[in-house]
Order: sequence, then C-alpha cells, then structure tokens
Amino acid sequence: MLDHGPRHVFVAGCSTDFGFRAARALARRGHRVVAGVREPEGRGRHNAEALGALAIGGDRLLVVPLDVDDDASVTAATGHALEHLDGRVDALVNTAAYSVMGPLEACPPDQLLAMLNTNVVGALRLFRAVLPAMRASGQGRIVQLTSGLGRAAVPFMGVYSASAWAQECFAEVLSYEAAAFGVEVAILEPANYRDGGQPRKPVGDQDRLEVYEPQLVAFAERLHQTDRPPEGDPEEVAQALVDTVEAVAVPLRTPIGESARALLELRARLTADEYEREILERTGLRQFFHRD
Ligand SMILES: NC(=O)c1ccc[n+]([C@@H]2O[C@H](COP(=O)([O-])OP(=O)(O)OC[C@H]3O[C@@H](n4cnc5c(N)ncnc54)[C@H](OP(=O)(O)O)[C@@H]3O)[C@@H](O)[C@H]2O)c1
Repeated sequence: MLDHGPRHVFVAGCSTDFGFRAARALARRGHRVVAGVREPEGRGRHNAEALGALAIGGDRLLVVPLDVDDDASVTAATGHALEHLDGRVDALVNTAAYSVMGPLEACPPDQLLAMLNTNVVGALRLFRAVLPAMRASGQGRIVQLTSGLGRAAVPFMGVYSASAWAQECFAEVLSYEAAAFGVEVAILEPANYRDGGQPRKPVGDQDRLEVYEPQLVAFAERLHQTDRPPEGDPEEVAQALVDTVEAVAVPLRTPIGESARALLELRARLTADEYEREILERTGLRQFFHRD
C-alpha cells in the first residue's frame, strides 16, 4: 500500500503510445517521472522531446535511453532514474513490449526468441533493476501492462499471447514473493486499442503463412461479421495506468475495455471444452475442426 502524495515513477516503453501517454499524464498530474525511451535520438525522438519539455514544479521529466533487451541499458537507465528520483522508485510502469501476429507455425523460432527477450526477459530485467531500491524503502508498486490475451488463447495471436501469459505469470508470482518487502504488483490487461499503437509485426515465414490462407480468410470474414472495432481512446489505458500508480491499494488484475473484460470473463466462466467450442465458432475455424 502506497501513501498519498506525488509518486516517483519510472515508466518503460515511452517511445510510443501507452507508455508515452502514461508518462505525460503522470507528469501533468504532478508526479516525478523518468521515462525510458528506446531510441531518444532516433525513432522515439519526437515523443522524447515532448516528454523532456514537461516540467513538474522546477523539476523536468527526465528521459533516459532504455532498451529492455540489453542488461547494460537497463542497469544504466535505472541508475539515472534513481539518481533523478532521489533514490526512490514508488512505481515501475512497464509498457515496453511488442506484438507479433499470425499462425504459430509461420513464426521462425528466432522471431519468437527475440520477442520473448523483449516482452518477458525485458520485464524480468526491469524487476531485478528496481526491486533493490523498493526493498530498501520498504514499499513499491510494479505495474505491468499485459493484454486481454494475457489469460486467453485465440488463433493467430499465439506468439504474442504466449509472452503476455508469461508476463502475467511473472507478475503474479512476484506479487506473492515480494509482498514481504512491501512491494505490490498490478497487472493491466487492455483490449485492442490498436489504432493508437504501432502495427503488429507479422510472423516472418511467408511460405508457411500462405499454407494457412483458408483459415485466415475464414477468420477475417468472421471478424468482419462479428467483431467490434478497436476500443475507443487509448487515453483510457493511460488513465488506468495513472489510476493504478495513484491508488492507495490496487487489485492484482484489471482488464481495460469491454472486449478484454468479455473475453476474460468467458475464459473464467466456461469449461475448457466450452471455451474451445466458443472460440472456434467466434473465429470461423469450427469448419476445420474434426473433434466433436
Ligand atoms: N495497443 C493495443 O491495442 C494493445 C492492446 C493490448 C496490449 N497491448 C500491449 O501493451 C504494450 C504497449 O502497447 P502499445 O500499443 O503502446 O505498443 P507499441 O505502440 O507497440 O509500443 C510499445 C513500446 O515498447 C517499446 N519497446 C519495444 N521494444 C523495446 C525494447 N527492446 N526496449 C524498450 N522499449 C521497447 C516501443 O519502443 P519503440 O517504438 O522504440 O519500438 C514502444 O514504446 C505492448 O505490450 C502491447 O502488446 C497493446
């Protein structure tokens, strides 16, 4: 449980959407923020400059280079963050991750390994970097952004989803293990706000991808008939991140957006067989399925 008052916050993944919006909103709310941007002189430059211009009282928001794939970068960025935040990180907000979309078979193992290195090992690197300082101050909050797919399996999102499940597992386990040090964990599970983020990376094996064309066509047709457009404004996710940093106490998991809530509720309510049937129907893949 955190006290009221301005928080010292380290936000990872601020080059683009959710992380950028969350860092900006936190700073505007008067919190002391350090924003990790992978390439502050490169593709993240525009947002890094916008964040760097935000002043909180006399204190400017600090932008630090942060590549969560790289141990040295995480160590250096955390060092700069601690220095700027007077040695205290009340909250780590981790949004640094990306998604890969397409049939599992068409994902070359190296592509999966690279994504897991960012989404899952990157999260572990950040946890390991901030936990000693949180332990020393006897309090802290780890806010891990995952996904509405973080506890649900759907076709053609298995590669990304595997990383979101792993992020959820790590975060939940950490909530048990680090509680004794006063560290809490909050998992936020957004629906698809894709209009706001970067496009998903496609799986890399074109030949294998083509083999799945009938299923992909059936899937696209069914989505076209039934699926909702992406959820509304990505600011909803930024606001949920801010609320999670500011709350005195937080739940372990919070789905954000109607479709994430609905999918996770389905997963929790149905038996495994019922869920399988429901997903096959909803994705148009029932016609290819041979088991009753
Ligand atoms: N947008 C959605 O609708 C949605 C829905 C559910 C879950 N999510 C998840 O929420 C997270 C953030 O979403 P988003 O839409 O903001 O995604 P995004 O636009 O793809 O941004 C991801 C952020 O992570 C950063 N990043 C990627 N690799 C990194 C690395 N090695 N080191 C440090 N930063 C790195 C990106 O920086 P660069 O620009 O430098 O690559 C970017 O700032 C992702 O895990 C995403 O999968 C998103």
